[in-house]
Formats: sequence, structure tokens, C-alpha cells
Amino acid sequence: MKKISLLIALSLLLTNCKTSEKKEVTTGLIAQKAMVVSARVEASKIGSDILQKGGNAYDAMAATQLALAVVYPVAGNIGGGGFMVYRSNDGKTGALDFREKAPLTASRDMYLDEEGNVIPNKSSFGVHSVGVPGTIAGIFEVYNKFGSLPFKDLIQPSIDMARNGFRVTKKQANALNKTRKRFEKANNYKILFDREWTEGDLLQQKELAQTLERIRDNGQDGFYKGKTAQLFVDYVNELGGIISLEDLVKYKAIWRKPIEFTYKDHKIISMTLPASGGICLAQILKSIEPYDLSEIEHNSTKYVQLLTEAERRSYADRTNFLGDIDFVNVPIDSLTSTNYIKQRMSTFSWDKATPSSEVSHGKVLGYESDETTHYSIVDQFGNAVSVTTTLNTGYGSKVLVKGAGFFLNNEMDDFSAKPGVPNVYGLLGSEANAIAPEKRMLSSMTPTIVEYNGKLKMVIGTPGGSTIITSVLQNILNVVDYNMGMQESVNQPRFHHQWLPDIIRMEPNGFDKKTKTKLDSLGYQIYEKNSLIIGKVDAILILPNGTLEGGADKRGDDTAVGF
Ligand code: GLY
Repeated sequence: MKKISLLIALSLLLTNCKTSEKKEVTTGLIAQKAMVVSARVEASKIGSDILQKGGNAYDAMAATQLALAVVYPVAGNIGGGGFMVYRSNDGKTGALDFREKAPLTASRDMYLDEEGNVIPNKSSFGVHSVGVPGTIAGIFEVYNKFGSLPFKDLIQPSIDMARNGFRVTKKQANALNKTRKRFEKANNYKILFDREWTEGDLLQQKELAQTLERIRDNGQDGFYKGKTAQLFVDYVNELGGIISLEDLVKYKAIWRKPIEFTYKDHKIISMTLPASGGICLAQILKSIEPYDLSEIEHNSTKYVQLLTEAERRSYADRTNFLGDIDFVNVPIDSLTSTNYIKQRMSTFSWDKATPSSEVSHGKVLGYESDETTHYSIVDQFGNAVSVTTTLNTGYGSKVLVKGAGFFLNNEMDDFSAKPGVPNVYGLLGSEANAIAPEKRMLSSMTPTIVEYNGKLKMVIGTPGGSTIITSVLQNILNVVDYNMGMQESVNQPRFHHQWLPDIIRMEPNGFDKKTKTKLDSLGYQIYEKNSLIIGKVDAILILPNGTLEGGADKRGDDTAVGF
């Protein structure tokens, strides 16, 4: 993974050099009517084929999500969860929460030892880290409300791909090989993925195909009840976990009101709690809005400073206030009000970094890959969906359900196991994000839609753990303030600050030495090691002539397909 990341960093550098020498603008795929952008060409194609057959964006959501569960096992899933933001062609907006939740027998201190210390890795690895999955409930909630084609048509291509197999890419082979030891440790049998992989190998998943057939034939009950549920719970029990049949039967996806706000005449529609993305995006964009970005060069010292200081303040609020809105009171309106933001930014000075804290939180960055996945869809009718979905870190808990062939998430780590102790993303939490039975863990996912002059302008999102919010942010600024096209925007080097640890993570070689030296002299600590990739943004921009431009992130195997 490190080698690939270095190559990507190098190609980013070369792209940038080329751009500045020749002033070439990179353009993504242009489509006349409809497009799907996802982490894998096979999934984008399956989604786009559904659109071409007359299906709508919601049909394509189901088809793409299921295809990613087959062809992108590192993050595509049926054993995880996610969020969807949509805007239908009549301008109506909405959001679906299919986030995992804590099992019924979960408890606040379940990851602490007798002395009250966090037991290393218990919340992030193996069967104890699994939350009750929401993805299949999410798919059916979307399909039952908006779907138009027969469900079997949406799922059959994924069943066929699971049974017949697909060719593993180089990036996939590397990621799988890197995880072998942890596959062995998390399971009590030799799982299908536990072997040495080479680019071009055929990966067939017969048990996953059978699971998908049960979902095809029995709908949501094909996952949450019957044979699949029994295989799931039996294996969890074998490994000593706590998810029960009752947990599965009780799971429900929830429609929520998205976070909506304006930024420089653009309407931003993003995900609400238990995803922190929309609130943080609103806070950060509103903190930046008073500044004239036409006077500030893109990715210059001043640009990095301004975004960093806005991000620092927002992530501090995230830590202190945010959690599952069905369990805790969160002052969303106050946190995103102009007055509050003005007061928060009043301590910002161009002359000196505002220190986050004197406290160091140790070595947490870069141990796990920040895997999640995002796909953006616009259909030929003008409907748009933005979906971010995850198992949490790569291959989730690494537990592959025996006999059912799908990975289980390790989403419990997104709760605050203990205030003041960071999770795998270095994020801290407070009581608001403490564990409780059936509570949803706080997320950074930020599926977002942008409207301009009452029309759809952009569909965007990304994986990347805590860096999701700041990656989406930078791409909105690239397009809105710096007039970049979608692919051009996605290709730009990115940086990230999250209050604590008090460092600016930067993609190596993306920022010039002068900028970094100046930032250092102002008191900012730059961290490039283990930050080789920040986000993998998959987005669609509606161009002024009504055509669609895809932005598929070359940091991954991501691809746009459309017509
Ligand atoms: N598991 C990453 C997130 O939800 O933010």
C-alpha cells in the first residue's frame, strides 16, 4: 500500500508540474445524460447499465452498492452501513441514515479493563468491534420509496459477478496481501481472502453469491432473518461476540432531514447526525466565507492557514458536542449560526498558529487504512444521490461470516471508548459519543450535494475517516472559489487538520517547500509521513451546458461511467 501511495504521490507531483508548465486542464469523463462514479469500474458500469435500462438514480444506488460489496470488499459492503443524501429532479432533498448501531447488550465501558483502561484494539479489530449492520436495510428503504425497476434486476449483476468472479487489481492484491495476518487472527477458519494475491487473479465468492440470492428472493429478510441471520449470529457466537438475532431483526434505517446552508450563493445539502460531516462542513465553510479567496492563492500558506484554523475549531466542537441525535441533545442551530462562528474565528490571527493543546496523543495515524467508499450518481431524469458507505477501516473487523461470505464492520471504534482516548483516526470523543445499546456511533461521512441558482451543480463525497470532511471541503472550494473542473479539482493535493493531534497532515510533494517553511515559522507542525493519500473523492459536476463531468480519484481504481 505504501509503495502504491508513493507512486500516486509522485504522479500527483508530476501532474502538478505538467499543469504549471503547460497550463493544461485535466478533464474527467463527460456524459450527456447520466453518470455513476465509484471506486471500481465494474460497480460504476453496473450502476450506469441500470440507468441505461430506464432505472433511476435510486435503482442505481441499490445496484452500485451491491456491486461494490462484491468487487470492492475492502469497503464496499453488506455488513456495514452508511449515509445517503439525495436531491430529486423536482428539487426535493432528503437523507437516509443506515449507520450501524450498538448491539442491545453493548455497554458504555465494554472496551475498558478492570482498571478502566482501554483494551488495545478491542473496539477496532475482530468480533468485538462489530456494530449491527445497516446497509441492506438502507438499500430497501431507498428502493421501497423510490425504486422503479424489479429488484431482481438490480441485484442479479452482482450475484453473477460474485459467482463468476472478477479480476483483482494491483492495488487490491497489495491491500489483501497486507491484511493476511489479520484475516487469520480474526477468524477461526481459513477465509477465502487469506492467500497470496497477484494482479489479474480471479476472485470468485460463491457464498456471497448465495447470500445475495437470499436477499434477491426474500428482500430485507434475506439478510436480517432466516439463513443469513443465523449464519451471522452463529459465527459471531463462535467467536465470542454479542450480536443477536434480535439485534438484526430490530435494525431500521432512518430518514433524516439533511443539513442545508448557503455558501456564496450555493446551497449545500449534506448529511446530519449521526454523521458529523454536514455540521462540520457548515461550520468550516461559514468560517471561511467572510474571507476573499480571490485574494488568496490556492494551496498557498494563507490558504492552508485559513482552512486549518477553521478546521481546528470545528473538530474541537465535533469532539465536545456531537453524537447520535436520537440519544443526546446537540445544539445544531447554535453550532452553525453566523454569530457563533464569528466568535469562534475571532481568535484567528494570520501571524501565529492557535495551539490546539499541549497534550500529545501518541502514534495513531497511518496504522489502519482509512477505508470507506463513496459513489455519486446523476440519472437521465435529473435525480442525484450521494452515498458514502463503510466497514470502517479496510475489511472492517476482518471477520468474514462463515458460510455467508461477507465482511463485518468494525464500526464500534467510531464510538468514544473512553473520553480523551483517540480512536484509529486519532479522533477524540466525549460523553455525547459514549456507547449505549442501539445508539449509532458518530461518523465523519459527508455525502453532499451542491445546488446553484436552484439547479443541481455537484454531487460529491469521499472515504478517508476523519479526513472525509476536509477533503469534501477542499473540493467544494476548488470548484466554487477557484473555478476548477471536477477532475482537475479531485487531482489537487490535499491537507487536513482535526484539532488534535495538532498537526497539518499533507499529501507529500503536493505543497511547495516555501509554503511549508512559512507555515512552520508561524507555528504549524506539518506531517507528511503516513499521509500519502487523503481521501478518494468521487464526484460529478454539472457543467454550464448541462453535460456531466466526472471526477474519479486516481488515488484509487475509481472510475466514472456514463452516457
Ligand atoms: N468509519 C468512518 C466514519 O464513519 O467516519
